[in-house]
Amino acid sequence: MDFYKSKILGTGIYAPKKILTNKELESIVETSDEWIFERTGIRERRICSTEGGEWPTDMALYATRDALVEAKLTPNDIDLILFASVTPDVPLPNSASILQTKLGITNECGCLDISAACSGFVYGLNMANAMIQTGFLKNVLIVASEMLSREVDWKDRSSCILFGDGCGVAILGRNESNDGSQILSSNIHADGTGKEFFYQPYGRAVAPLTTQMIEEGSHYMKMKGKEMFKVATRTLAKNAKDALDKVHVSINDVNWIIPHQANVRIIETACKILGLNNLDNVIINIERWGNTSAATIPLAFHEAVKDGRIKRGDLVLFDTFGAGLTSGATLLRY
Ligand SMILES: CC(C)(COP(=O)(O)OP(=O)(O)OC[C@H]1O[C@@H](n2cnc3c(N)ncnc32)[C@H](O)[C@@H]1OP(=O)(O)O)[C@@H](O)C(=O)NCCC(=O)NCCS
Repeated sequence: MDFYKSKILGTGIYAPKKILTNKELESIVETSDEWIFERTGIRERRICSTEGGEWPTDMALYATRDALVEAKLTPNDIDLILFASVTPDVPLPNSASILQTKLGITNECGCLDISAACSGFVYGLNMANAMIQTGFLKNVLIVASEMLSREVDWKDRSSCILFGDGCGVAILGRNESNDGSQILSSNIHADGTGKEFFYQPYGRAVAPLTTQMIEEGSHYMKMKGKEMFKVATRTLAKNAKDALDKVHVSINDVNWIIPHQANVRIIETACKILGLNNLDNVIINIERWGNTSAATIPLAFHEAVKDGRIKRGDLVLFDTFGAGLTSGATLLRY
């Protein structure tokens, strides 16, 4: 069997135009800028337009156009679209297929949505890598695009303050130049026993939406914040360590760590467990974005590449967790 290395050829992001600050949230729920910033590290988040033009597949379209330019590829060079989202445009068809049409792809490439909550991008990246390594596919577009503002309960101050909308994409392709870029180690996991820590019980097969649910707001996302916090810190540290140990790399040799951006205190605690003395090499952008679910890691990665912090040749660690409880890590040489 052929064995190829894969490389991130290009990335792109889309930031919805509307910014919702903590101060503005003070007029929606009983909260304060101080409370939110102190407990989460968030100051503002982006909110998609409900008038159209910023649906998850629209954001993906804009972000992918930039990624294709950077990768020097055309839309028809994409062999597979993996679309991670908990807020797809519609239940059917999948968002990947909608995006395929929007991109003008005519090669009938495979289109698959990934439902792994905040871990969707890392799941997609690791799946794409496996398919590229074996020679099955050459270029895979991995999308993480979320419009969480539609699914959060804007009356629940313990959860609505956390989330934001946005999109990040990456094109993973066969490394033709063999320049050292590659995915070195990866893992994906889930622990279904914690499914009620973060879930949305109504609205599909088991309990289709009723007007009563809508009136009561019972169909929105529900979260047990403290339970999520505890599992998150433990899981982030464990998966990162496993990914590093597998290839005998020390956390201190990693140039940049990009953890899922759910709460800055989760990041601080996980990094402490990992033995980091400071957060100098940890990319944190939650202050401006909030938790954008699957999109946090590609958003943070793209920003750090574009502002020159992350350079080609750097060792980068992605580390994620989310509802499910899904989780995973990827160590790569960029
Ligand atoms: C949600 C989270 C920020 C809450 O922080 P916390 O320090 O655990 O706060 P608590 O839930 O203990 O609440 C403390 C108090 O603040 C109040 N409070 C909750 N939200 C508030 C808000 N937005 N503004 C002001 N007060 C708030 C609570 O009602 C509580 O008041 P009480 O002591 O009078 O009962 C935190 O648990 C968290 O980030 N959890 C992880 C969530 C997560 O990562 N989810 C996504 C995973 S992908």
